[in-house]
Amino acid sequence: MNSSPLGIICHGGAGTIDDKAAYAAGLTEAIDEGYRLLRQSASAMEAVVTAVRMMEDNPLYNAGTGSDLTIDWQTEMDASLMTQEGRFGGVAGIAGVKNPILVAQKVMTETDHLLLCGFGATEFARRMGFEDYNVVTERALARLREVIDHGSKYFHKMNEQRLSDGVPPTPETGEDPLIEKKMGTVGAVARDKHGNLAVATSSGGIVGRMRGRVGDAAILGAGTYAGPGGAVSCTGHGEEIMRRSLARDIVERMTTMPASTAMTLAVAEARRKKLAFGAIGFDARGGICYGHTTPDMAYGYKVAERLFLFTEEKGKPH
Ligand code: GLY
Repeated sequence: MNSSPLGIICHGGAGTIDDKAAYAAGLTEAIDEGYRLLRQSASAMEAVVTAVRMMEDNPLYNAGTGSDLTIDWQTEMDASLMTQEGRFGGVAGIAGVKNPILVAQKVMTETDHLLLCGFGATEFARRMGFEDYNVVTERALARLREVIDHGSKYFHKMNEQRLSDGVPPTPETGEDPLIEKKMGTVGAVARDKHGNLAVATSSGGIVGRMRGRVGDAAILGAGTYAGPGGAVSCTGHGEEIMRRSLARDIVERMTTMPASTAMTLAVAEARRKKLAFGAIGFDARGGICYGHTTPDMAYGYKVAERLFLFTEEKGKPH
């Protein structure tokens, strides 16, 4: 048996966080339950799916019940999971279900496909027995109203820019002043007693995005990736995370360096490029890592019976 410790690390999104105590409380519940399962010999996959499902059920987070809305007041959610041996399942733009991560898990275990989207994903969920669920929280409504009130034209600006010069804007060319308030995602990475790693990510998307827009939480290598080097879940500005395949980028760095070094380098590069981004992960040797370029990231982990929460973070972001 592998002698490195089992453990779990979770995030509740990068950005700006007003109610840190409430975010920390939700993380504690998810981490404790994931850790309890790992102690009872559950697989890393079971632990991350359970932790992410619990955060999807907590209306505070932008995933599942608390999902943020599209510009036309719709819920469309993204989620995916991956194991270190390369098993992957995802759903993109799914609506009418309570727990996208559980549907993504069914995509992994019950189909020959990697990713189902939109109506087809919801139809598949129904076939798998998932009931119709359409809760929109007051918080999500208020967040979209705020974005509309501020007259954010981010995605329209992106389209205009693309049409005028054919160049997709990066944050340097298409800065959205509200971006750090509009994001949110939940994720978990776990290492089980056999040393196996798994990762799960789920998101309600960016507030006020166009309908049909898919974010990094659904995409293999972008928001979610596991491989021989380790496993990583990302949060932040999905377009930039997808453009750079950031989860895969960090895991590949982990093949030649410890998790914490891989994360430090990735965060430094992201900061230079002005990307709004955060990530958590484990490397194959059991090294844990977290980092963010945003003012805050809600995260916490439990290893060797010790729970650590972002609210205890001292000094600068890792
Ligand atoms: N990272 C979540 C999103 O951009 O949709």
